[in-house]
Amino acid sequence: MDALRLLMDDHRRVQDLFKRIDDATTDREQLFRQVAQELRVHAGIEEAFLYPAVKQALRDRVEESLEEHHQYEMVIDDLAQISPSNPDWQGKFNALKEDVNHHIKDEETELFPKTRQLLSEEQLEELGQRMEDQKASTDEKAGAHRRH
Ligand SMILES: [Fe+2]
Repeated sequence: MDALRLLMDDHRRVQDLFKRIDDATTDREQLFRQVAQELRVHAGIEEAFLYPAVKQALRDRVEESLEEHHQYEMVIDDLAQISPSNPDWQGKFNALKEDVNHHIKDEETELFPKTRQLLSEEQLEELGQRMEDQKASTDEKAGAHRRH
């Protein structure tokens, strides 16, 4: 699969989960764990495969994206410490949504279009394949965890 297509699918899945958390009256904790896992895996594959491939040409963009990952991962760690019934939870969750939506917008309007100009279709397919493999092996590990 085209790497940028795959990453944009991640973005849509994350935004869909945000919506479901906003609408949920129960199971918010479980949905939050799901979105936190999605976001961590997403940041991981971008950092492992996409950013190194374009770092030289798009240094500032890549640094900004890395900074955004760092920022939203701190908020995720914070949120993971408290339950959705905690009065602080909603405010932190709103901050997470804002950070992530900003990251998504930056990538989809700047980094991804520029990446598409830089890399060939074959390169994007190959990167996407490596991302899929990495995701599959992360899912296996997460599955093994759950079974214990
Ligand atoms: Fe992203």
